[in-house]
Amino acid sequence: MAIEKIPVENLTEEEAAAELAYLAAEIARHDELYHGKDQPEISDADYDALKRRNDAVEARFPQLARADSPSRRVGAAPLPTFAPIVHARPMLSLDNTFSDEDVRDFIASVYRFLGRLPDDSIAFTAEPKIDGLSMSIRYENGRLVNAATRGDGTTGENVTANILTIAEIPHRLPAGAPAVAEVRGEVYMAKSDFQALNAQMVAEGKQTYVNPRNTAAGSLRQLDAAVTASRKLRFFAYAWGELSEMPADTQLGMVEAFRTWGFPVNPLMKRLSNIDDIIAHYREIGLARPDLDYDIDGVVYKVDRLDLQARLGFRSRSPRWATAHKFPAEQALTTLTAIDIQVGRTGALTPVARLEPVTVGGVVVTNATLHNEDYIRGVGNSGEPIRDGRDIRVGDVVIVQRAGDVIPQIVDVVLEKRPDEAVPYEFPKTCPVCGSHAVRDINEKSGKVDAVRRCSGGFVCRAQAVEHLKHFVSRNAFDIEGLGAKQIDFFFEAESPALMIRTAPDIFTLEKRQAGSLAKLENVEGFGRVSVRKLYEAINARRTIALNRFIYALGIRHVGETTAKLLARAYGSYAAFEAGMKEAVSLSGEAWNELNRIDGIGEVVARAIVEFYKEPRNLDVIGRLLEEVTPEAAELPVASDSPVAGKTVVFTGSLEKMSRDEAKAMAERLGAKVSGSVSKKTDLVVAGPGAGSKLDKAREFGVEVIDEDQWFERIKA
Ligand code: IVH
Repeated sequence: MAIEKIPVENLTEEEAAAELAYLAAEIARHDELYHGKDQPEISDADYDALKRRNDAVEARFPQLARADSPSRRVGAAPLPTFAPIVHARPMLSLDNTFSDEDVRDFIASVYRFLGRLPDDSIAFTAEPKIDGLSMSIRYENGRLVNAATRGDGTTGENVTANILTIAEIPHRLPAGAPAVAEVRGEVYMAKSDFQALNAQMVAEGKQTYVNPRNTAAGSLRQLDAAVTASRKLRFFAYAWGELSEMPADTQLGMVEAFRTWGFPVNPLMKRLSNIDDIIAHYREIGLARPDLDYDIDGVVYKVDRLDLQARLGFRSRSPRWATAHKFPAEQALTTLTAIDIQVGRTGALTPVARLEPVTVGGVVVTNATLHNEDYIRGVGNSGEPIRDGRDIRVGDVVIVQRAGDVIPQIVDVVLEKRPDEAVPYEFPKTCPVCGSHAVRDINEKSGKVDAVRRCSGGFVCRAQAVEHLKHFVSRNAFDIEGLGAKQIDFFFEAESPALMIRTAPDIFTLEKRQAGSLAKLENVEGFGRVSVRKLYEAINARRTIALNRFIYALGIRHVGETTAKLLARAYGSYAAFEAGMKEAVSLSGEAWNELNRIDGIGEVVARAIVEFYKEPRNLDVIGRLLEEVTPEAAELPVASDSPVAGKTVVFTGSLEKMSRDEAKAMAERLGAKVSGSVSKKTDLVVAGPGAGSKLDKAREFGVEVIDEDQWFERIKA
């Protein structure tokens, strides 16, 4: 492709026009080869390079953009597909801490949970937090059998072929290693390899890559493992999943075992017992950071003893025994060129800053969040001044901050550089999409005015409806291949009844509506016959779906993935969940209490769910959806063979062998429900010395009462 050789900035207008024509034809040809014939001639990376080149030329000569430009086409770009792998043990994430104070709190919480005194000390490991992609690599009888990405933590993608190309990862484990061993860690690209790759891209006149992390991610997501092999990826082992045998009983010992099995482990990992030493090691790693040949974004602390880790256990998505101490965010100065308002799924009007492009921590930033209208005015959530009350205006020189994967934000303005003509920003009082009033609600609980202004248009607002659909098909919801944000925009705008998708059930009736219609999807630009067939297959594959995904996809305010999982586990079936929510409308009674008793669900969330089920439009959409889709029953809590599974347990009095939190977590892990008060429904009361009224009540209701020792006796496996 000789044409690729001329850097975009050197193209004349005439050359640019010729090249855009060439690229349109060439990309269309590859689309057809990929989708139509399933016989691609070039790698995904080369295909992406063509698209990027097209975008770059168009960005420089917008007036030359063609009607048939690949950038305007709705069709799906080749998306690699990998088979799913369900993790034998979930892959969790870490809680973040940002200050020394937070770290002290974390350590104190570990001591408190274990009910130990601060002087019999608990050791922690401290090691760099690698900014790459987590990976679980499974060995059976010493052989690498598969490798999976983290995915949603429960199910990842099978990238075995790609992982096999990484020289640092052993294909076999030495004799003596456990029969089943899942070694987990981080795949990353070294900074030096990244720079060399970019130097090569420049030499070839190609677009350069943004940062090592994204490049590593892109390299792993290649269906053609030869491409992965050509990029040098590396690995650090620091965790594990299923193991048929434990090679050590401490975190440090485990990592040492991985080293002897042939895995690279991080040399900066240390075992420390004293909080000051821990913080000192954090500072040391921070100082070494610029000289390391890999990106890191913090330091991870873990309780060293594995028996203590087991006692500490997990919250819904992260362990209690670990935390990530993040490095401060990186900042840069640039000019705020405009403020746009985006309308989200819940109607929230979010101001977005458009910026002169600026590099912050290795990434080019052109957009940043401005949170809400008070934030722009220099007013905090409780009405207090922020930035000493400085407001943010279009034309201002601003400080942009980016921390890890978080959306960049504007943290301050440089007043000395404010242009004379800059005026205070006027936040719109109507929805920029549907024109409905945009209002700030009063929070029922606190009586305060909400920070967020919301469009009152509800289902009338196209923005809300479209965002709902995008959420519905998103990766952690229905995850429909070939139906991304771009395609949703297309289907939502479609006029023909045989093509349009306005609510989620329409997705599942599309194929039926297409049959016998003249407005054929396969005639729409960007959709070939084959890609239409693939789309139907992808849709039909989701006609049965995990309950937690189904609940998450509904887009109920405050119900994220974690809450959806809690709800699925608590109710077991969609019918039980919906019945419970409808019964809870009065915000009192048994159904309401049951919802509020779920650990991890607070009143704000509970109210939002009940509100959602009060809206007839929602019930109508769900009703039509259930004609097309079957949510699977959720697995009920683990360890159902425990004698306390399914029992309602109350702990009272002072406990001596465990803290109250630990007792609760332990009981829940075994499938019991822990309640704070004794009623006729209580099955078991565990009473320590000094138990009072709850013990009396238990006797009154004839509930079984045992002491702490008997509790441990009973739950013994
Ligand atoms: S431990 C159960 N150690 O950070 C916790 N994670 O925010 C297992 N990460 O998904 C993770 N370096 O991808 C651990 N030294 C390290 C890490 C590390 C990077 C990543 C990992 C994880 C994410 C959590």
